[in-house]
Amino acid sequence: MSRTASVSTPVQAVTEPAVAVPVIFDNNEAFVAESVPKIMGGHMLPRSFSKEWCTQQGLKEEPGSTTVVRSFAGLNVILVTVGSTLNDLDHYRLAGAAAVRCAGDGNVAFLLPTDGLDEPADVTQALVEGALLASYNFKGGSPDSTFFVVPLGSPLPTVETHDEVTRGVERGSIVAEGVNWAKHLINLPPGSMVPRELAREVLARLEHDPSMQVEAWNEAKIKEERLGGLLGVGQGSAQPTRLVHATYDPDPEANLPHVALVGKGVTFDSGGLSLKTGEGMMAMKTDMTGAAVVLAAISIASRLGLGVRVTAFAPMTENLPGEKAVKPGDVLTIRNGMTIEVLNTDAEGRLILADGLSLAVEANPDAIVDVATLTGAQKVALGDEIGAMYASTNELATYFEGASARSGEPLWRMPLFAGYETDIESDVADMKNIGKTGKAGSISAALTLQRFTDGRPWVHLDIAGPGRSEAVRGYVTKGATAFGARTIVEFLSAVAADASTT
Ligand code: BES
Ligand code: MN
Ligand code: ZN
Repeated sequence: MSRTASVSTPVQAVTEPAVAVPVIFDNNEAFVAESVPKIMGGHMLPRSFSKEWCTQQGLKEEPGSTTVVRSFAGLNVILVTVGSTLNDLDHYRLAGAAAVRCAGDGNVAFLLPTDGLDEPADVTQALVEGALLASYNFKGGSPDSTFFVVPLGSPLPTVETHDEVTRGVERGSIVAEGVNWAKHLINLPPGSMVPRELAREVLARLEHDPSMQVEAWNEAKIKEERLGGLLGVGQGSAQPTRLVHATYDPDPEANLPHVALVGKGVTFDSGGLSLKTGEGMMAMKTDMTGAAVVLAAISIASRLGLGVRVTAFAPMTENLPGEKAVKPGDVLTIRNGMTIEVLNTDAEGRLILADGLSLAVEANPDAIVDVATLTGAQKVALGDEIGAMYASTNELATYFEGASARSGEPLWRMPLFAGYETDIESDVADMKNIGKTGKAGSISAALTLQRFTDGRPWVHLDIAGPGRSEAVRGYVTKGATAFGARTIVEFLSAVAADASTT
């Protein structure tokens, strides 16, 4: 990533080529906070802009709307809308993204009025997240630049507020860097990001993370551990299968809450012998999103120093129709001893997650969270912007609804409807790997996964739709989105916070 963030002052800010000033809309007029300097680099900045002026400039009430006011002195002032309220985190993400998109490759200083902010650290974090997530560019190439955050107050921000803004910049930088790392792994071509390379990249990063232990299992180990689902999917490919196991434990002596994460790491999904169409395969390098997301989340948790124990399991394989490929009709035995009849080799995610979830249960966590680009049906149901959330308890659902509201990654709770259990009954095994054709495909997949959770508190995120974006949207870049990573980090923060207060 070529853009980083840091805290700065108004005097330094005006030496940058661009300064972003937030405006708040009220009754179609745009307002600038009192604490914003009235004269800046040759600009006189009024406290309000009329409806007519805003219309003429194209400055709208919608968060992230911008207009640029140029001056002869060389300084460009970017007016950016944060909405009509002061404390909506996602509005600051959109504003941060809009400011850097306006500034192009160069530095930009964002003036942040802190009077009236409930949580300056959280607002700053969101602002920096938006700016740095939007700055991700697969092709790199752009020169190094900085997103400066300039805390303002009347007459000055307090020392405490300044510290909070500094903390927010640190947290936002850690979160965005981790998410951009995941996006990059996912965006790399499937011919280079094969399971072995993915495991190598993950190890190279996580090995240096605080309180982290990480290992990659090779095929011999995976066989020894009897991961029949993962081996079955991997046997159609010439590329060796892997499983990454990471543990973050900041305080082994303390009785910290323990969360297990499981992520689907199919580095390319051709469908196997139940081959997809050419069109259907085009985006299937994205099928390793779940693995990248959970590994980014555990890495971010470690770098933030969250007070929670996290274990991650990420099975990694290709799904290809090689000569040894699993055949429709084959039966695989999963690690926990249950058997699955494979009737469609393209429903491979649940086969490898069954092993991952079995391992997660053995780690004896308080909760299990899995993430997967699991079903086309999820995309049909909720489209490209909303993830499907399945929760085995209302308490966990509430945690995830709260985390999603804070992260700005929309989730919709779906039913683990027991009536559809009959759809996955098999004549020759404990279950089959498909439900009824064309009916509730995301639900039958979730019900299949649930059988490997041993009745523990469990959340499943099916993110087939929001895992990719076909266009730039706010702080979302085109291609991989690593959707879910920030929500999981928010969830882990909330679990840690609640454990430390009880
Ligand atoms: N990786 C796909 C799901 C997917 C589809 C993700 C589109 C992102 C975009 C998954 O492995 C798959 O192929 N699922 C099948 C299951 C079916 C055969 C029961 C599907 O949804 O078509
Ligand atoms: Mn598939
Ligand atoms: Zn898949």
